[in-house]
Amino acid sequence: MTSQISFAEQISQPRHTAINSTPVWARLHQHQRATRHVHMRELFAQDAQRFDRYSLTLDGLLLDYSKNRITDRTLELLLELADAANLKQWLCWMQQGERINVSERRAVLHTALRLPAGQVLNLDGVNVVADVQQVLAACGDFAEQVRSGAWRGYDGQTICDVVNIGIGGSDLGPQMVHEALRPYCQPDLRVHFVSNVDGQHLAQTLEQCNPARTLFIVASKSFTTPETLLNAHAARRWLVAAAGEAAVARHFVAVSTNRTAVTAFGIDAANMFGFWDWVGGRYSVWSAIGLPVMLAIGPVQFRQFLAGGAAMDAHFFSAPFARNMPVLLALLGIWYNTFYGAHTHAIMPYDHGLRRLPAHIQQLDMESNGKRVGRCGERLDFDTGPVIWGEEGVNSQHAFFQLLHQGTRLIPSDFIVPLNSHYPDTAAHRVLVANCLAQTEALMRGKTETEVMRELAHLPGDELDMLLPQKLFPGNQPSNTLAVDKMTPYALGMLLALYEHKVFVQGVIWGVNSFDQWGVEYGKQLASQLLSEMDGHAAATHDASTAGLMRHFQERHYG
Ligand code: F6P
Repeated sequence: MTSQISFAEQISQPRHTAINSTPVWARLHQHQRATRHVHMRELFAQDAQRFDRYSLTLDGLLLDYSKNRITDRTLELLLELADAANLKQWLCWMQQGERINVSERRAVLHTALRLPAGQVLNLDGVNVVADVQQVLAACGDFAEQVRSGAWRGYDGQTICDVVNIGIGGSDLGPQMVHEALRPYCQPDLRVHFVSNVDGQHLAQTLEQCNPARTLFIVASKSFTTPETLLNAHAARRWLVAAAGEAAVARHFVAVSTNRTAVTAFGIDAANMFGFWDWVGGRYSVWSAIGLPVMLAIGPVQFRQFLAGGAAMDAHFFSAPFARNMPVLLALLGIWYNTFYGAHTHAIMPYDHGLRRLPAHIQQLDMESNGKRVGRCGERLDFDTGPVIWGEEGVNSQHAFFQLLHQGTRLIPSDFIVPLNSHYPDTAAHRVLVANCLAQTEALMRGKTETEVMRELAHLPGDELDMLLPQKLFPGNQPSNTLAVDKMTPYALGMLLALYEHKVFVQGVIWGVNSFDQWGVEYGKQLASQLLSEMDGHAAATHDASTAGLMRHFQERHYG
């Protein structure tokens, strides 16, 4: 175990982050070379207890990680890697509010959003838990007013449509949670999410709404994101055209850290729900950014969602790493990404409600760990965050699973499944679960030549020769299965917090700052420059392709 050092020492000594120069890094490479031909089929055949030994549960959430290309030795080495990266201390630094988001000099305290009321966590002399609870209570009051019909629109009617206008973390998290928890939503209150700056997104949403009964939430941590402001202004014009300026106060609320910009937009500060710079956008669904979810499911269920997150936090901060879900998931990911050279990781929810989960995890993981420079500014000469992708199960079996089963690439994946449905068709649910389990089994086992021969024995020789290789399944494709009893707000809270911590652990081991996102800035700069050129305000030199495309647009655009 690395000796205890202070946070200031850690970040001033890049050698602590040069993980690829540690002896255990080299040992893991050797171990991978020595074991890469071992088939998981053999590992299961050798150990009848493999499932029991390589699975764990927490409050009804089961993680089965036995279908991975690992042995006890692999886990031992990966745990040593976690020690070499000083992981234990990083957990403490995060939990205590050290400014681990080094490039922005910010603490990272989304876990404080889930702490129960009454706890104390001081940051710069302020108990952030008290602040969090205050905003939560304000959001709860507001949500109850809207849900009960006490909050009325400009002409006295109740609200029946809520439109959340936000993008990235101010959209993906709440949208995904809202979809996942539909069975808990109040039926007469529809919640819509508008993120894209493409005018059809807002227009198609507003077609379904009546201005007198629509509430807009402008959700933006910075309140400077052009896409969100553009959509918010368009929505405001739509409302004002129907109801006049005075209606804005009853139909617009904001969620932001930027009070000045919110009031400049014309939203009364009394209708603003705040949060703090120590909550990253992609970690913000637990804050007031979750307001559309709270409106839909109510404050009581929202607190259940927070409680699920808190349960995962408590586990993460206290369980030994060998029995720690987020740590294990992170180490397994590193095993494939770094030591096998797998470039992607797939997320397969076998739950229609979780169909936006891959998109949310995509932002969470790729915006956090898609980095080539370490937290101290040093260039990293190994691969970091993988490409995250995925789709809801069963549908994806009929789309891209062919490549997983018989393609040439190693693609680790997570299968997520609720064991019980909220809906009455239990027969359909059994089919869904059977498919989920069958896929992980097939990916692991594959199908051997002997097994295929048995099926094709009746065929003439030349046809057999042609078909046999095509019907072989190599297997040995790793997967984790995450099963919850039912997709309740609590279970979903656990699941999301699990992924957040997994991403953090991987960032610590690779030595990146998982909490900034400088990579999205450059495109924004160039887009605003191109826009001024389109408006005839500036001219710049571009490469021939961009200049050609710009000319093409200007020649053919009618607007
Ligand atoms: O895409 C960059 C980003 O800053 C994300 O990290 C964030 O979630 C999103 O934009 C939206 O930002 P804001 O909530 O400030 O509008």
